[in-house]
Amino acid sequence: MEETLDFSPEEFEKLLQRASALLVQQYAHVDTQKGFAGFSPKEVESWFDEPLPMAGSDGLRFLDEVKARVIDTATGNLGPNMYAYVMSGGSQVATVAELLASTVNQNVAKWHLAPAMTEIEKRVVKWAAEMIGYTPEAGGAMVSGGSAASLAGLTVARNVYFREKNINQTGLFGQSPFVVYGSNQTHNSTDKSIALLGIGTDHFRKIGTHADYTIDVDQLEKQIQADIRAGYQPFCVVGNAGTVNTGAIDDLNALAGIAEKYKLWFHVDGAYGGLASSLPSLRGAYAGLEKADSVALDFHKWLYQPFEVGCVLVRSWGSLRETYFKQADYLGAAVAHASDRLEFNEHYFQLSRNAKAFKVWMSLKVYGFEKIQRMIQKDIELTHYLADRVAGSDDFELRSRSHLAITCFRYVAHLRTEEETEHFNQKLVAALEADGRVFITGTVLDGVYVLRACLTNHRKQVSSVDYLLETIRDVARRLMEPGG
Ligand SMILES: Cc1ncc(COP(=O)(O)O)c(C=O)c1O
Repeated sequence: MEETLDFSPEEFEKLLQRASALLVQQYAHVDTQKGFAGFSPKEVESWFDEPLPMAGSDGLRFLDEVKARVIDTATGNLGPNMYAYVMSGGSQVATVAELLASTVNQNVAKWHLAPAMTEIEKRVVKWAAEMIGYTPEAGGAMVSGGSAASLAGLTVARNVYFREKNINQTGLFGQSPFVVYGSNQTHNSTDKSIALLGIGTDHFRKIGTHADYTIDVDQLEKQIQADIRAGYQPFCVVGNAGTVNTGAIDDLNALAGIAEKYKLWFHVDGAYGGLASSLPSLRGAYAGLEKADSVALDFHKWLYQPFEVGCVLVRSWGSLRETYFKQADYLGAAVAHASDRLEFNEHYFQLSRNAKAFKVWMSLKVYGFEKIQRMIQKDIELTHYLADRVAGSDDFELRSRSHLAITCFRYVAHLRTEEETEHFNQKLVAALEADGRVFITGTVLDGVYVLRACLTNHRKQVSSVDYLLETIRDVARRLMEPGG
């Protein structure tokens, strides 16, 4: 009866020391961490292909296996050689915070299950609003990331906008279609949200963009008018505060104007670029963000947090509660100061929730937001440096620049036709993965396949960017060789 899962204090301490030695070692070589380790799926699968372990093993010795199989083979998200998708390098304060948070194991579902963590989450919501110049009245919640933040924003949009239809109870049966608008550069998590909300992706109008990949507002307005004439119910416009392909920031003021004119909900996807609005040099580019009805932010991107943590902001806590509150006898209790307690389970879809805000809070307290802003600024400046080097070269062709830390380009040396260039760049991305020194992927812009470099990592320097270009050139040259 007395058995528990706990070790003795001495054993536990040894385990922690060994684990922290592993973490410290990670940083010893972080500057040279490979982008991709290059093992095949079959090989990686084989390391873990074993029966359910009924008997345990020695924890200290097992950490050696963890090191060999998991840590040493990890994709290089920490280091400066990662350029794919939107990967930030995490941060050491957040690592410590994760360890502490998982140890105290608070459930930020109900206030009395996690008093300090609940108040910290409320505070981080307020700080998030302050960072992007959003209303101090804002409510919000920590969620798993940008996709979940947009799903939450759009769920609130659907329920609050169509309040009199009581959709949570009656469903969408018998409605003429609701219509959502956004540019053709909008992240596919918005498509997923629209599908999940029962609106159907046929009713997501993807509006064309200008040469800088920002939404064409005239085309948007014409489409809204056409939908109204056709008997649809336009209800929401999604603005991009930094697209995933090129970092384009829509004219958010113009979108807010359209939303006001046609009485639409205005949701902003700031998952990638939202936090850069805090930079004095970029404030103008984001004008109108403060008018959004809901905003999706992602702290595992440009707040350098380890996965997962995102944040949805709405104009008041009330609209979250209106969307998510569901009565359950066992969750109600006559408690002291009930009206002073914010119950997160009543303001979000999840009941049990880990303390995602804690690592954000600790990071902001220890680093200070100014330092994080300097890192964002550095990422942007390094991206300009990369774009300039590409533009000034004979063998690369620059395909997109932005205010943010993404630039797209192609390798063009000795390639004669458009078809040849297209095909070569696709092969190049695969060859770069196989090479593994740097990790960069591609995307399609105006029908053209391009390499896409995203620089959201505070450990990058000018030398990292030089190394990226050298490595691409090296791999490309080898690919050009006969049999390459
Ligand atoms: C603009 C944008 N929106 C949404 C997302 C989805 O975020 P997450 O991967 O955290 O769900 C991303 C991810 O890259 C993004 O760049």
